[in-house]
This record gives sequence, structure tokens and C-alpha cells, in this order.
Amino acid sequence: PVLVVDFGAQYAQLIARRVREAGVFSELVPHTITAAEVTERDPLGIVLSGGPSSVYEEGAPQFDPAIFELGVPVLGICYGFQVMARTLGGTVAHTGDREYGATDASVVGDGGPLLGGQPAEQNVWMSHGDAVQEAPDGFEVFARTAVTPVAAFGSAARKLYGVQWHPEVRHSDHGQQILENFLHTIAEIPSDWTPGNVIADQIARIREQVGSARVISALSGGVDSAVSTALVQEAIGDQLTAVFVDHGLLRQGERAQVEQDYVASTGVNLVTVEAADTFLGHLAGVTDPEEKRKIIGREFIRSFEGVQRQLVEEAKAEGEPIKFLVQGTLYPDVVESGGGSGSANIKSHHNVGGLPDDMTFELIEPLRDLFKDEVRAIGRELGLPEAIVGRQPFPGPGLGIRIVGEVTRDRLETLRAADAIARAELTAAGLDAEIWQCPVVLLADVRSVGVQGDGRTYGHPIVLRPVSSEDAMTADWTRVPYDVLARISNKITNQVPEVNRVVLDVTSKPPGTIEWE
Ligand code: XMP
Repeated sequence: PVLVVDFGAQYAQLIARRVREAGVFSELVPHTITAAEVTERDPLGIVLSGGPSSVYEEGAPQFDPAIFELGVPVLGICYGFQVMARTLGGTVAHTGDREYGATDASVVGDGGPLLGGQPAEQNVWMSHGDAVQEAPDGFEVFARTAVTPVAAFGSAARKLYGVQWHPEVRHSDHGQQILENFLHTIAEIPSDWTPGNVIADQIARIREQVGSARVISALSGGVDSAVSTALVQEAIGDQLTAVFVDHGLLRQGERAQVEQDYVASTGVNLVTVEAADTFLGHLAGVTDPEEKRKIIGREFIRSFEGVQRQLVEEAKAEGEPIKFLVQGTLYPDVVESGGGSGSANIKSHHNVGGLPDDMTFELIEPLRDLFKDEVRAIGRELGLPEAIVGRQPFPGPGLGIRIVGEVTRDRLETLRAADAIARAELTAAGLDAEIWQCPVVLLADVRSVGVQGDGRTYGHPIVLRPVSSEDAMTADWTRVPYDVLARISNKITNQVPEVNRVVLDVTSKPPGTIEWE
């Protein structure tokens, strides 16, 4: 792989994705990684990400200098560029001249292998307060800006390169070209990370992991579980049974989509579990978001265990337990649950952090290394219909984490009705491609006064949370046209009796997460 070293910025994930867009497998690693650990992973290249710190600050993230001596090609970006400069004997200074956002950069000389052949003047995206003043000995300067004398450099002999701006950001002209020059020209890594290769590789791994055992797969109606199930089905065919748990926390039409569309396109063996009473029973009285997530995660597993027992009984299988469970866990879930780079646990995504300790299943998680866009590409390659592959994300815990307050049947009905209206209007307005997803949230513990007809109402607000994102790690609120918002608001307040107010969430992520709980 190519290792992307995370210095604590949002940008590391983005770099990892851009590297994969260049057809090269990448993995995120913490900046505390040692040279020995790097050697063990045997990377073809290393990219150092940007970060929020100054290299001279006390407590600034450190980096093992021995990694620069391994002979592995390294590209430093922003903070990573400064770490490289400073470690190898260049100078980095606090200039007092900050550069943020769009900046003009000039290519110096022929631009070297990093910038060679590109226009001499480029508009690039910067975010730094410190600047490299002098390149280390033996390094050639390839770019500068008005305030940064050394904005890109490199040493052909050592295969070490760096750039002050953010090539992974789309606002940087030729940014992807810079990454590709590093990967393909400097590090000489071929493009072989393609959907077809990922599928072939996963099929081989799944067959090896499973052997002749039987497997059940959690199908939720979402893209991730649909694709992971299809992938496992491709690998082991009838050894697989897909399980759909109707936990009562689904949106309108969701069950039909799984029971009809998914089965029609894959022919998978499907078992539906009616578990609404059980889930809602356990959720009664619970308002804490993490507790809700834990309960839902646990009850999912209990449902799967129920199916497991039933299947074993039906098959009168002697002693052949169904020990594998397929889950559609994605790379960002792993990273956000603290499993990737040692980052903080922000939420217990039920398919990573919320599983009970006494679970007897061994997990098959064929999408664990993948980003959402890669999962969609794999789904298409596997022949799943666009109606499934193109779906917007919906969390496993469903509407359970979109009711702020206790989850009850009545509240679920209210939220389902509001959600169906919002989704239909956004789709009708042609906004599905622009919107990553739009959680619709019921503030069940909040009431406000309204007036309808001649009467006073004392109802609940509904929050619309439309976000645009590339991978759910960061997001911005989508600027949905006012007239569309007005239509949604009118319809919800007219048609859903318990709701007398519709509000719009205008928070990016960070600081807000996409879901409210
Ligand atoms: P947050 O709220 O953490 O959400 O910004 C990021 C993305 O993850 C989805 N999400 C989940 N998906 N199980 C899932 O399968 C979960 O427990 C879960 N929690 C959040 C969320 O919808 C968004 O796309």
C-alpha cells in the first residue's frame, strides 16, 4: 500500500481517497508510526498529510526521522512538507504572513518530476502560517509563492518530495496530477486498485475465511450491506442467507425495497425477522444516544442469533454452527470508531463499536478498507441496480437515532411521515445527486407554540439536515433552494399533525456530526 500519515487534520482521509482515485491502495496510519512498523507494512510510498500545528509548537506531532532513511519514496504535504524540511536540515520559520485559501504559486525551473510540464503559474489551495525558508541540502526548489520562497522541493536521489499547498483539494489546479506524478513517476507504482481487482481479491479472501461453512449476512436496505452481501454471495453462493431485521426503525418503503428489489436482482436467500416489538421494548425509556446505539447493536445481534438457531434446526445440521456474520462496515466507520489511526471515538457506529462482547459470530467485513464511492463502484461492477447502489446513506440504527428523546411507536410514525415528505420533495427537485444524505430529525422533547386554523398548537419541531459530502468524514450543509424548503415545510406542517415547525440545520461537520445522535 501507500501509507498516508495522519498529522491530525481532516485532510488525511481526503489524501487517502485521492491516492485510490489514482488506482493505488492507500491506508491511514498515525504519525506515531515507527520506522520498524513502516518496514513491516512494506509500503510502496508514503504521503505525509497536513495538520493544524506549527512544527515549532510545543507538543507538535512528531515523526520518526528514520522513516526518511528507509529508501521508500515520501511526499510531504503542508505540515508534512515542513516536518520533512525541518527533519532533513532545512529551515522553517514563522513568517507572520499567513496564506489561507486560494493562492498563486509559481513553478521554479522545470518543476522537476512533481510539477514538470505544468503551467508556470497555478492557483493552489493553501492553509499555513509557517513557511519553509531554505530547502535541506541536496534538495531542489520547484515552486514558490509571494510569501513562501520554498513552496515545493525534492531530491531525486532520495526520492523525497514535498509541497506546501494541498494537492488533494479540488481547488488546487493540477493537484491530482501532482499526486499522480508522485505515485506513478517518482514512486513508480502501477494503477491496479480497480473495482474488478478489489472484487477478485475479496472473493478469494472470503472463500478462504469461510471454507464450507454457512454464513448469514445483515441486509439493511442501505448501499453498504447490499454490496457486502452481494460480494459474499458472489464468493460462496448458496452458503449464504441474508437476514433483514425489521426493527421498526425503518423509513417508509424500506422493507419493500429489500424484499422485492434486492432479492429480484440477486436471487439471494432472504429471511426477514419481525423484531419491532423487541427493539421498541428495549428502547422504552431510553434517551441517551450512546445507550440507544448499544441497545440497537445488541438487539441486531440477538436477531441474527435467532436466525442462526432457526437455520441450524431447519437444516438439522449436525454440529455445523453458522459462525460467520457479514457486515457492511466501511473504512470511515473503522476510523471514526477509533480503530484506524487512534483517533477519538466520536460515536459507536453500531456495526463497529456497539456490538455486544458475548457475540459468538466471527465477522466478515469485505468493505472494511473501502470508502463509499469505492463501494458504489463495486456494487455497479457486481451488477446491482442503480436504485440500490445510488441510494443515500442511512444509518443502521435507523430512525432510532433521529428521534431526540425516547423512541416510541407514535413518534416513529410522525417522523416517518415527515421524512417521506422531505425525501419525495428533494428527489422531485432533482437534488439527490447534490445531497449526500438528508437526515430528518424529530425533536421529541421540544415543544413550541403554533397556530393552525383558529387554534393554538403545542407541537414538535422537525429538523432538516441536508448535507453535501464526499465521504461523510466532513460535510457542509447543502444550500437547498428556499422554494424547495418552503414546500417541504408546508407539506409537513399541513400533513403531519404533531409537527408545527420545520427548521433547517446549517452546521457543517465538524463541528456538528451528520446525525443528531
Ligand atoms: P455522523 O453522524 O457520525 O455520520 O457524522 C457519518 C455517517 O455515518 C452514518 N452513521 C451510521 N451508519 N451505523 C451506520 O451504518 C451507525 O451506527 C451510524 N451512525 C452514523 C451517518 O448516517 C452518516 O452517513
